[in-house]
Amino acid sequence: MLGRINHVALAVPDLEAAVATYRDTLGVKVSEPKDLPKEGVTTVFVEFAGETAHVELLHPLGENSPIARFLEQNPHGGMHHVCYEVDDVIVARDRLKGEGMRVLGDGEPRIGAHGKPILFLHPKDFHGTLIELQQA
Ligand code: CO
Repeated sequence: MLGRINHVALAVPDLEAAVATYRDTLGVKVSEPKDLPKEGVTTVFVEFAGETAHVELLHPLGENSPIARFLEQNPHGGMHHVCYEVDDVIVARDRLKGEGMRVLGDGEPRIGAHGKPILFLHPKDFHGTLIELQQA
């Protein structure tokens, strides 16, 4: 059912410091920060040569950011979610729901940061990791 890994999202308490670590210490390409007010996050994309999957650095933006709650529990930051690509997010959702897996929110896909439909799956059903599905 799953296709490629699209991205791994890392919540970071200090976005500038994280950018400096990836860009200067690790020597990979980082984007300019992008504010996504609806998601309550500021993101920076980290790109790897020859690799379609990327890392997203996530930092809280505004009130009630889901990342703020995550950082309260993980003050040094940590992995927030993994995003896998699927051919059809509705087909994938219905199949997983049929297996008893829980979809977060109202269960309807919304358009994510990449302009594609996305869904999030309950971490308790996936061994402790929040999973995002993105239509390829
Ligand atoms: Co994501």
